[in-house]
Parts: sequence; structure tokens; C-alpha cells
Amino acid sequence: MISQNVQNLTAYTPGEQPRDPSVIKLNTNENPYPPSPKVKECLTGFDVTRLRLYPDPVFLKVRERIAAIHQCAVNQVFVGNGSDEILSLCTRAFVENDGSIGFFEPSYSLYPVLSDIRGVARRPVSLNSDFTWRMPPDFSADLFFMTNPNAPTSMLHSRGTVADFCAGFAGVVVVDEAYGDFADDNCMALATADDNSNTLVMRTLSKSFSLAGLRFGYVIGPAVLIEALYKIKDSYNMDMLALEIGLAALNDLDYMRSNVVKIKATRERLGASLRERGWSVCKSQTNFLFARPPDGDAARVFDGLKQQKIYTRYFPGTQTGEYLRITVGTDAQCDALLAAL
Ligand SMILES: Cc1ncc(COP(=O)(O)O)c(C=O)c1O
Repeated sequence: MISQNVQNLTAYTPGEQPRDPSVIKLNTNENPYPPSPKVKECLTGFDVTRLRLYPDPVFLKVRERIAAIHQCAVNQVFVGNGSDEILSLCTRAFVENDGSIGFFEPSYSLYPVLSDIRGVARRPVSLNSDFTWRMPPDFSADLFFMTNPNAPTSMLHSRGTVADFCAGFAGVVVVDEAYGDFADDNCMALATADDNSNTLVMRTLSKSFSLAGLRFGYVIGPAVLIEALYKIKDSYNMDMLALEIGLAALNDLDYMRSNVVKIKATRERLGASLRERGWSVCKSQTNFLFARPPDGDAARVFDGLKQQKIYTRYFPGTQTGEYLRITVGTDAQCDALLAAL
């Protein structure tokens, strides 16, 4: 009854969402600040009788706004129910049934699961031991998922390195910029050019826009690749409320940017405090830190913090097992973390 593929599948494990509101949640890279006041205005002013109707299946208004932000054509923009939905659609649009999907290790742990769901070969590429770029010269796959800045390492691969890789790669590259707003540089220019290239760049409202609960991601790239995603999407993959609220948030970039400034300041302060305590902290270009306690026993620190109701994220394994991923919260939350340590 259940396909062999699904029977064999190890599902993705999302970070824990505790019910206890007193928990300090530094485990899923959410934004500690509320979304733009424009989001609240939009929700309170929403005429519920409009919900009788289906939403615009091609979400033109939102695409126009995104195209204006990134200076590209409207037919270069696709919107998804969270960027996770877009990743899943890419595995269906750009990979042959006997094909393969590449990704770095360590990176976003959903990529291997999506490869397994699609039933195609995984082609992991191990980064160097310090998490810097490493790519075998003969590497090939139908599709490559590249988180940049990377998660959980928090580190940025340079635009030039990514551009060189994309130019020499025969398949489609999805540069997953979930954390791009927290970085000093990004690869969006590789996607907006619409020069028949193979590169898509993806963003989400879940992190910098404080809207993880909304489910809104988007991807930009050459119109031919974007068109393929429209061909296979569910008719109404974006609901009317998500489209309205997403648009309200995208119309208030200043608010998002002011929160990013605060988070980056807290990130630098927290990183410096951890280094003073002997931790090794990767150079973060995201809203989280990837850090190794002095004795490398990150599992013990993770458990100890959890007992004190401070949740962080721990990824066991040879490459990541000595590190803890810590979301940058408010200054007060980060002070509580330091006190607990
Ligand atoms: C690298 C990366 N890509 C995508 C996502 C998923 O984002 P969304 O909430 O838009 O589905 C995450 C969420 O943690 C992530 O870390």
C-alpha cells in the first residue's frame, strides 16, 4: 500500500516547537522581533467576505512587487508556500527520474530528504573541515541546492566562487538565500540577468521578515526555468491571506532592514562573548551562530541549556557534532544564554 520509497524514507526532523511559552527559543532561526506593523494593519483590515473567492493563481500583484524590488521581469518570479515548497517543486521540474541532486555537506538537512522523496540519487559534496568551499572538478548532477550563506555553518561562499561554479555546471543551481538579508553580499544578480543561465536564487519571508508562520518564499531566475515551476505547481499553492500579508511585509522593507541591523549587532556581541569564553565561532553572515564549545562537547552543552529551558540546535555527526547552532535572539535572550553557560 505504501510505496517502497516512502517506507524506506527517513523523514526530515524540524526543530522543536515547545508549547511552554517560557522557553527561550534559539533553535529554529526564527526572528525574535514581530513582523512589520503593516502586517497587523493588513490582517485587521482584511474583509473576510473575500475568502469566498479563490486567490489569484499566478499572484501577479506580489510578483510585481518582488520584480520591482529585485529589478527583474515579472515572469522571472515564482512564489511558493514557504521556500521548502519551491525546493520540492525544483526536484520535480529539473531532475530526470534516473537523475541526481547535489548539495554540500554540511548544509540544510532537508536536501537529502527531498532527494529521497523524489527517489533519485543524492550527490553530497563534503566541504573542507573548516566549512570552506570544496568542489571536485568533475562534479555533476541534474540539480544542485546551495545554501548561501550556508546553514548550519553560517558562512558565506563568495559571489565569484558561486558564479564560477554555476557557469561550469551543466544542471540547474538553486542558490538558497534564506539568510541572504543578514549577509554582506548575495548572488541575486546571477538570477535576475535572464541570460538563459541555469541559476535560480531563492528567498523567504520566514527569517528577516519575521514571518515563519506565514509560509511565503520566492525564487527568481531565467523565465524558462520559472515557467517550468508554474507548469507543475498546485493550482492555488498560495492562499489569499499569505499573498496579502506577504505583500504588506514586502512593502515595508525599511522595517525588515532595521530588525536585521539589530540582529547583526546582537550577533557580533554574542559571538565576541562566546570567543572570550574559549569557543570557536564561525564567521556568521546569518541570524545564527555555529560555535564549538572549548571542549568540543556540544551535545552536553545542548542538553544543559535545554534543562534551563534554552533551546538551541544540535546536529550529531562527524562534521557537525562538536558544534552548536544558536539562533540570534534579542539582547536579553542572548544574555540569558550567556548566563546559563
Ligand atoms: C537553508 C534554508 N532553506 C530554506 C528554509 C525553509 O524556509 P521556509 O520557511 O521559507 O520554508 C530554511 C529554514 O530553516 C533554511 O534554513
